[in-house]
Amino acid sequence: MNDEKRDVARELARRHSEAGDPLGWFEALYKQANRDFNTIPWADRAVNPHLAAWCEREALPRPGMRVVVVGCGLGDDAEYLAGLGADVTAFDLSETAIRWCRERFPDSRVSYQVGNLLEFRGAFDLAVESYTLQAMPLDLRSRAIDAVGKLAREIVVICRGRDESDPPGTLPYPLTRADLDGLRKNGLELLKFEDFDDPYDPGKRRFRSHWRIK
Ligand SMILES: C[S@@+](CC[C@H](N)C(=O)[O-])C[C@H]1O[C@@H](n2cnc3c(N)ncnc32)[C@H](O)[C@@H]1O
Repeated sequence: MNDEKRDVARELARRHSEAGDPLGWFEALYKQANRDFNTIPWADRAVNPHLAAWCEREALPRPGMRVVVVGCGLGDDAEYLAGLGADVTAFDLSETAIRWCRERFPDSRVSYQVGNLLEFRGAFDLAVESYTLQAMPLDLRSRAIDAVGKLAREIVVICRGRDESDPPGTLPYPLTRADLDGLRKNGLELLKFEDFDDPYDPGKRRFRSHWRIK
């Protein structure tokens, strides 16, 4: 996210939160973008390199695996996963984002759906969550993590990271290890936890964690 775009997003988020609709800013942002990628802070029109590197290293998803992408945005991660042979469902709260995905990828094998993580239900083999938890309001975090944990028997989460002793920061709000430990409630066990400075965006601390039902 560059600073100017991030400021616009933060201001929209603040206004919607004050109006009692803390998640409403996502749809507002996509709508006001009017199909201009340049105004969406996270629209880089490429797969997240930390997801692609993970898939390559772990040889996941295997062809035919049922994969769900949480908060799919404009669909690049979902399309990448489908290209690996997975059977992909991708959902986002924003109707405009989902319509935009369908326009971008008219021949896609991905099932794009409008849905709110806090209500979305399904039983998938793998759930992929990148950069959505950190964009949701802090007071919804534990519910949101719980909801991710209920989606699949195996989960990868890629997010901004911070120590418990660091201040919560500003949007996008980094997660702590304790936040992610909320996944254990659903019987998931941590297979690998990575904490790194983003080589593509130096100065940004990222966590990438891989979980599986015991
Ligand atoms: C920061 S963007 C990241 C998008 C995408 N994952 C990426 O990395 O490019 C967060 C996305 O999550 C969606 N989102 C936010 N809250 C959501 C919720 N409760 N349920 C589903 N999607 C949500 C937003 O509309 C937005 O597309």
